Amino acid sequence: MQKVNMALVGAGTWGANHARIYKAHPFADVVAVCDTDREKAEKVAREEGIENVYDDYEKMFAECGCDAVAIVTPDFAHADIAVAAANAGKHVLIEKPLATSREDAFRILAACEANGVRGMVDLHNRWNPPIHSAWQSVRAGELGSVYSAYYRLNDVRWVATDMLPWAAKSSILWFLGSHSLDTLMWMFGSRPKRVYCVSKSGVLSKPGVLNRRGEPIPKGIDTVDEYLSTIEFENGAVAQMENGWVTPNANPCVNDIKFTILGDKGMISVDASNHNLIQKYTDNEVVVPDVIVQNRIFGKPKGFAFESIRSFVDCLLTGEEFPVTLRESAYGVLAILAIMESARTRMPVEVDYGILQGDAYGDATAHG
Ligand SMILES: NC(=O)c1ccc[n+]([C@@H]2O[C@H](COP(=O)([O-])OP(=O)(O)OC[C@H]3O[C@@H](n4cnc5c(N)ncnc54)[C@H](O)[C@@H]3O)[C@@H](O)[C@H]2O)c1
Repeated sequence: MQKVNMALVGAGTWGANHARIYKAHPFADVVAVCDTDREKAEKVAREEGIENVYDDYEKMFAECGCDAVAIVTPDFAHADIAVAAANAGKHVLIEKPLATSREDAFRILAACEANGVRGMVDLHNRWNPPIHSAWQSVRAGELGSVYSAYYRLNDVRWVATDMLPWAAKSSILWFLGSHSLDTLMWMFGSRPKRVYCVSKSGVLSKPGVLNRRGEPIPKGIDTVDEYLSTIEFENGAVAQMENGWVTPNANPCVNDIKFTILGDKGMISVDASNHNLIQKYTDNEVVVPDVIVQNRIFGKPKGFAFESIRSFVDCLLTGEEFPVTLRESAYGVLAILAIMESARTRMPVEVDYGILQGDAYGDATAHG
């Protein structure tokens, strides 16, 4: 069997994981890595044994002979790279969110379509074992007609203060809301129609907010702390969605994840943050090791956040449909833009799907 030759754009925290996953895949390789910060690209190349290093992705696409490109740059910096990759005839795996503007989302869709290349967004919650299991039950009709859900997906504060240097240029809605909204659409098999949102600010933006080491950040971080959204779906289902990045740093899990879905015949509840599978106690701390999202088994990257990335390669090899379609990811972008507008205006907002207005969610869904 032939290998899928990947090229990587973005050699930061998550890009390094992408490199490890392709390198560990028996039928994939990473032939080149690019970062505008060349030192970062060189470090990942050294660690993972990648031959070619670039700081210009257009040059990389022209020279490296890759089949597909993984785009792992900050949330707002996906579209130019995705369009250039598609124009160079490369398939694309784009980190979530697809994009952070309507124009960018449509540009990516158009470029992939015009060039006949395949694209997937890494919305990995569909691979999350309890969430996937809930979806299987919903699809099997075990809950009857599903009509409401609650989804809290929060991050601890250090994600905004220490992990993402670009947190103020993104938002927790792009960073995590993209996942929770995708899950809700997938569960209901429907797109948001109307959204109402109230947001809270003031913790992260406060001058002197402390980072993980307890040092003050003089100007704070200019980003919304938390969005509380009520979402009406086109099929009549309703959800409440909470996304914040101000959970205390001592939370034993980086995410606070609570999910409940209710139908006329049953209900499913998921508490994925306090799974209680394993606790580690030493004289200095209590730790709940992550054994579900990203972990290593016999040195190989495992966990559902890595499974979604592997799945992109698998589908390229087998020709199977990606479990997440680009159109579904675009619906998520357009709905998040509506949620942000509602948070600004404190008024309900209808989601404007533009050229995708006539779509029905099911048209774009891989039902697996
Ligand atoms: N799926 C997941 O679980 C998961 C987890 C973390 C991050 N992410 C996503 O991955 C993406 C990257 O996040 P991160 O934490 O790795 O960020 P990061 O800041 O650690 O890394 C981003 C890298 O992209 C580089 N870059 C920026 N613009 C570039 C360009 N035009 N060309 C080449 N390189 C460029 C930066 O120099 C930086 O090294 C984001 O979209 C984020 O939401 C996904």
